[in-house]
Amino acid sequence: MIEALSRDCVILIRNVSPSEADGLVHQIAGELGLQKKLELEAGFSDFLGHRRRITKYFMSVNSRDDYQLVTPHSEGDRISNMQLSCFYCFENSKDGGETILLNIDDTSEAWGLLREKTTKILPGSKPLSRGMITRAKALYRLSSPDDYLVPDDQIVAEVKSEIPGLLLAIVMARPKRSFSLLLGRDVNVLWDNIGSVDQSCLHFFVRMLQERELLKRPPDGFELHQLDPVNAGRSWCSGADYEKLFCDEIILKLKPGDLVILNNLTWAHAVNNWTSLPGTRRIAVALA
Ligand SMILES: [Fe+2]
Repeated sequence: MIEALSRDCVILIRNVSPSEADGLVHQIAGELGLQKKLELEAGFSDFLGHRRRITKYFMSVNSRDDYQLVTPHSEGDRISNMQLSCFYCFENSKDGGETILLNIDDTSEAWGLLREKTTKILPGSKPLSRGMITRAKALYRLSSPDDYLVPDDQIVAEVKSEIPGLLLAIVMARPKRSFSLLLGRDVNVLWDNIGSVDQSCLHFFVRMLQERELLKRPPDGFELHQLDPVNAGRSWCSGADYEKLFCDEIILKLKPGDLVILNNLTWAHAVNNWTSLPGTRRIAVALA
């Protein structure tokens, strides 16, 4: 399986029990030295309460309403640097709810327009002690001491800092590459704080679903933002051509007992919406 993942394949294993799924992802994470990360993710999410732990390593996905979709993204951000994402299907009887996996073209010119929403230190900020840097990183997800504003960054909001003398702002910054353990090289990643804050990503995805007849339309009509549960945070419009960002796609209607394992950095995941017809979609995620 590691060999297939290092060729950037997506792995689908059918008829797996929940405990077998736990065992398999634990084994793969172990071979990549990500065992601790797998365990911490499951425990930490449970502790924070934004996900519910379902099995030893699998957690609930964010709940959403009928007709709401999930636009393409890799789980997390550059700082969390999640290498593996694994999906396990308990039930999937909704009218819709297909899993859409999109392979990222690392060399696409579209990267030139994309921006990541991140926190940066502003000029005039006072120098911080090592202890303060550690605190600032934990509080504001600064990725390194060199996260200072550069001329290319666009400030979108000032941040009121709890640390005296530390001046911060939320900015749209040119994305930095992340190291893929599976490929052994740096790659461009469509992290959550790139795709999920970008109006262009939503427009692309809705168009893609329409073309593949996968968009479910509410009977009373709809405005685009109603289909998008994270629309309030989509404060940016890159104008990037997302068609050029992806070089391959896999569309899966997951069945109970299906386990999907993929490189979280090179494959973005998305879900089409579902109608209000009776049915249940229960898919769990494990991350490492
Ligand atoms: Fe996700």
